[in-house]
Amino acid sequence: MSGWLMVAGLGPGSEALVTPEVTAALVQATDIVGYIPYVARVAPREGLTLHPTDNRVEGERAAHALAMAAAGRRVVVVSSGDPGVFAMAAAVFEALEAGPEAWRDIDIRVLPGITAMLAASARAGAPLGHDFCAINLSDNLKPWELIERRLRLAVEADFAIALYNPRSKARPEGFARTLDLLRETCGDDRLILFARAVSTPEEVLNIVPLSQAKPDMADMRTMVIIGSSQTRVIPRAGAPILYTPRSVA
Ligand SMILES: C[S@@+](CC[C@H](N)C(=O)[O-])C[C@H]1O[C@@H](n2cnc3c(N)ncnc32)[C@H](O)[C@@H]1O
Repeated sequence: MSGWLMVAGLGPGSEALVTPEVTAALVQATDIVGYIPYVARVAPREGLTLHPTDNRVEGERAAHALAMAAAGRRVVVVSSGDPGVFAMAAAVFEALEAGPEAWRDIDIRVLPGITAMLAASARAGAPLGHDFCAINLSDNLKPWELIERRLRLAVEADFAIALYNPRSKARPEGFARTLDLLRETCGDDRLILFARAVSTPEEVLNIVPLSQAKPDMADMRTMVIIGSSQTRVIPRAGAPILYTPRSVA
């Protein structure tokens, strides 16, 4: 059988949120490639080789996957959430573009998954119900000045803003700076959702006004959604509902 490469999204954590298309690809695979915790979500079986690697080697991982597919293996590169959102799909295409011409004949497909911002939004209500944008707060692959400029423009345009990678141990200051920027540009009552480990047993949701938001409310397992000026809460006996109305007058 000729080789192929699928770049698949495993969703935010729950097995119930893995698509049937991704499950079918995992069943047919001979090789699973990806960051250690994502590969650990795939059950080992006979005939399947797992290739877990560190998260700083995306380029090498992508080239390795392409080389195996070119040699006739059936390779699935796994990402959490959706593979096209701050994840491996773009890394695979960067490696394809830079690699040998023969790689362009490989049968490659991207299999979508439920990205963290959609899973978090659904748990809280519908904070992304009107126009929104997504920004990755990590400055590993771009300068902080660019992140700050995009944040300012997103606030000015009154988007709800989904923040991926808000705060790591290696760079805790970025999210503190983000909160400072919001305090300069938004009112104290701007609503912020902290959604941690969504769809896993450790899931915690917290909705606070900007005045109560603190840097240590976020970590690398947290999705932060900053509401637009229109985002509001429906208080009730159960968990409050956070949503952004569909229209702006
Ligand atoms: C490198 S990005 C990968 C995003 C992934 N491709 C996706 O579509 O969700 C990792 C970031 O996604 C967010 N994230 C991933 N899974 C999450 C979950 N279950 N709950 C909350 N945030 C999550 C966090 O902000 C984390 O730092």
